Amino acid sequence: MEQNSLHHSDAAAAEGNAGATSVAAKKVFVKTYGCQMNVYDSQRMADALAAQGYGPTDSIEEADLVLLNTCHIREKAAEKVYSELGRIRQLKDERAAEGRETIVGVAGCVAQAEGREILRRAPVVDLVIGPQTYHRLPEVVKRARGGEKIVETEYALEDKFEHLPAAQNKVTRKRGVTAFLTVQEGCDKFCTFCVVPYTRGAEVSRPVSQIVAEAKRLAEAGVREVTLLGQNVNGWHGEGADGREWGLGELLFRLAEIPGLDRLRYTTSHPRDMDDALIAAHRDLDKLMPYLHLPVQSGSDRILKAMNRKHTHDDYLRLIERIREARPDIAMSGDFIVGFPGESEEDFQETMRIVREVNYAQAFSFKYSPRPGTPGADMDGHVAEDVKSERLQRLQDLLYQQQREFAQSLVGKQISLLLEKPGREAGQLVGRSPWLQPVIVDERLGEIGQIIDVRISKAGSNSLFAEPVAGPISATEVA
Ligand code: 5AD
Ligand code: SF4
Repeated sequence: MEQNSLHHSDAAAAEGNAGATSVAAKKVFVKTYGCQMNVYDSQRMADALAAQGYGPTDSIEEADLVLLNTCHIREKAAEKVYSELGRIRQLKDERAAEGRETIVGVAGCVAQAEGREILRRAPVVDLVIGPQTYHRLPEVVKRARGGEKIVETEYALEDKFEHLPAAQNKVTRKRGVTAFLTVQEGCDKFCTFCVVPYTRGAEVSRPVSQIVAEAKRLAEAGVREVTLLGQNVNGWHGEGADGREWGLGELLFRLAEIPGLDRLRYTTSHPRDMDDALIAAHRDLDKLMPYLHLPVQSGSDRILKAMNRKHTHDDYLRLIERIREARPDIAMSGDFIVGFPGESEEDFQETMRIVREVNYAQAFSFKYSPRPGTPGADMDGHVAEDVKSERLQRLQDLLYQQQREFAQSLVGKQISLLLEKPGREAGQLVGRSPWLQPVIVDERLGEIGQIIDVRISKAGSNSLFAEPVAGPISATEVA
């Protein structure tokens, strides 16, 4: 899946758990669905469980504890969890026949939204734990091993950042050269299609001191690029080191001072919270990468109003203009929903128009999926499935074309590339361009963790290829 924005894919985000191998007697397997916040939370859960003697495993067969970190954003994502639980039931039975116990847990947004209902639909589950109560996970696992069935979804607002063990525990396992860092959680915007304000609760910002401390630990562990995460990340605010109220812009200026952290990103933002300081950060901070995921959802003022987006088509365009004035090479990314209740062909044409006006380098688009408990689900004028599919097709054709054109426009450009990991084929290394596309280079160009200058030589369908600035590595050098 695409993991570059706080974007909720219906596919599983990451399976298993990389990390230090452990001689621990017990093993935990975590499967993560949905957005990057879940990826981050899964790592923290694994850290917290490691302290209880659970080592991570990539193999569900050898796990004593299976945790599904779930996504509730669209119906498809939520239903996937139940089919996975069906497979896990078989596994648990087989292991029970061998006299081995398997604890099965459901975490994440399905846990928060459905709670006890999960135990009813899937009796294989031993524990259900919502995102706001992860700090209680070790204790909950212990009780589940004692034979109890547990649903843990109640929380007090003050608890919210308690669930980030990394904030208390000073160890950060090395995980590569890029990392996520949660700075804000929850959402107060209440877009009428969205479950997030219900599953992730009210907006809470992490204090500056905690964020800076975690960023420093990451830098010391060799991380060179940090992506700040939040459901409404640019709604982050807090008291700054100077005693003044800071927003995300000021926070980015502070993080840019940390030695060793060379690249900063953030996701996901709401257009209403793009303030002057944040736009100034895009203008003044070289470390802030020229990429902005700024969902608009629809281009129709009527639908934007029904969605409770609190901005118009023109507000959004004017905002993009200001951002591009500050950072002309910025790549825009967006989210779109087609077939929201009441959407006519004219409304849809307004979405096509805003896409043409903005010109996106990257985009995610979805058919509207009614979510229980959200205002949209009860609105009149639900759009037929085939109409949604047909509109989605037209929109995606246009978005893919823009994406290809953007990638093509980079050919010949010199860029700085952070080398992240080995490529799929032998002899390759992969990094990301400032605009977030994967870039493939010859492994002799550098080492993982290095930032090198290269020239883009070719644009493929999903990734770019690059060569040394001086020209391709010649055949004689190869010999
Ligand atoms: N149906 C379809 N797409 C949705 N999204 C959020 N809720 C829904 C829904 N009910 C999309 C939005 C959001 C992204 C994370 O998922 O585009 O920005
Ligand atoms: Fe959902 Fe809207 Fe909040 Fe984004 S801003 S998380 S779409 S309610």
